Amino acid sequence: PAPGWAIAADVVVVGSGVAGLTAALRCESAGLRTVVVTKARLDDGSTRWAQGGVAAALGEGDTPEQHLDDTLVAGAGLCDEEAVRILVTEGPDAVRRLIATGAHFDESTEGGLALTREGGHHRRRIAHAGGDATGAEISRALVEAVRARGLRTVENALVLDLLTDAEGRTAGVTLHVMGEGQHDGVGAVHAPAVVLATGGMGQVFSATTNPSVSTGDGVALALRAGAEVSDLEFVQFHPTVLFLGSDAEGQQPLVSEAVRGEGAHLVDADGVRFMQGRHELAELAPRDIVAKAITRRMQEHGADHMYLDARHFGRTMWEHRFPTILAACRAHGIDPVTEPVPVAPAAHYASGGVRTDAHGRTTVPGLYACGEVACTGVHGANRLASNSLLEGLVYAERIAADIAAAHTAGTLHARVPAPLPHPDHSRHPRHPLLPPEARLTIQRIMTEGAGVLRSADSLARAADRLHGLHAEAREALHEHGKTSEPGVDTWEATNLLCVARVLVAAAARREETRGCHWREDHADRDDTTWRRHVVVRLNPDRT
Ligand code: SIN
Repeated sequence: PAPGWAIAADVVVVGSGVAGLTAALRCESAGLRTVVVTKARLDDGSTRWAQGGVAAALGEGDTPEQHLDDTLVAGAGLCDEEAVRILVTEGPDAVRRLIATGAHFDESTEGGLALTREGGHHRRRIAHAGGDATGAEISRALVEAVRARGLRTVENALVLDLLTDAEGRTAGVTLHVMGEGQHDGVGAVHAPAVVLATGGMGQVFSATTNPSVSTGDGVALALRAGAEVSDLEFVQFHPTVLFLGSDAEGQQPLVSEAVRGEGAHLVDADGVRFMQGRHELAELAPRDIVAKAITRRMQEHGADHMYLDARHFGRTMWEHRFPTILAACRAHGIDPVTEPVPVAPAAHYASGGVRTDAHGRTTVPGLYACGEVACTGVHGANRLASNSLLEGLVYAERIAADIAAAHTAGTLHARVPAPLPHPDHSRHPRHPLLPPEARLTIQRIMTEGAGVLRSADSLARAADRLHGLHAEAREALHEHGKTSEPGVDTWEATNLLCVARVLVAAAARREETRGCHWREDHADRDDTTWRRHVVVRLNPDRT
């Protein structure tokens, strides 16, 4: 069926985290007719859950060059150095502009920004807000700015597919909207520029720090549209996620790296510290090294978690510096003031995503990507802590500048979309909609076969089982002429399957251990063969 409604704009931003709202605000300031569409409410998504902060060379004696060095080391040989240079040199001013937009960061007693440390940083360079509620403050400030400036927004709008014209250039997106009055049902925003800022895909695993909306929608859309996607095998597992039992599923509470930045120790059940002697930065080694050390210690002890001991902070420091984490622990019956906190690694961040250049352009003309959905090249094989909010800010601004320049140059035309790519995927032959319960099955398959520790066998098993889910949906389509009804849950399951299959294929191809990709059967880093990226492109699908 054709979409029931349509909006025309110069640019449509899909997603409303730090990257999406920054891009939208800058596009609007440049005079572009801007529409923001978002799957849930404006402040849902990963940004508001971010704790530690924003990394930038803002402290005395710190320099972008030192931030660059730390980022490259964490990225394990796969960062794009030019992309990182842009991040670290434009970062400090991007943070200042965020402050000018209305975000309040914590200040030190001397009056400047209070800066902390996290894994992989040799300097105190993490700006934070509300102690450990940095993302919530950034989200609040950006949502308020969007409302104050009267930007057009459509909430509860699940993005379906990219619209393109006869030459394959971007012409907008189709959406499935629920409960928003005049824009209910399947509709479209027609625009010659689309900015994907849909966030990550943590929900592809059973236990993750990501909220339930992080289902890889942007990467799945980009794959269906024929855009290049890169580095999907590099899923970062955060070392210290509150351990709530080995069968815990869905979003889990994060215990920020900043807790270690302020001096917490990782210990085993006997109270023995195990990061000393493993890395010069001990508990503040890059995230992949700490996650692996925890996993190894768990294996050695036959345990399903380790502990983070910060009793020495005392009550006052816990209450003032880490109020969010303190409340989350206490809500689960753990008091970090008097006992060590049980922790284990859980899926946290997709270092890969839709491949872009330095202006956030993807390989499809007019389609941009920024934030976690993108692969700008700044993270390489392992993102440095607190570089993600910064990347969202810096690259969103670059995208807005690029779109504004194209608009001024007259190269951004309103285009007539080619015939619609099947907004009704319940009859789609290549990407049929999955039943909602497939989500749980996908998460379990991925956790078993493509989690922290992978091997050719575990990945082959995962690939087979994922293929089975796809085959079942196709069979249902063949037998009944349609699959599950379109809706958020069926679409999310379908997108999760799409990104899971590509992730598993990329992880199987990379026969080495590098950054956050850990192969049991290829334990070493192989710079001769693998100092390169796994780039995937599906044939665009218009049937
Ligand atoms: C944290 O607070 O530990 C998360 C920081 C990040 O993921 O960059």
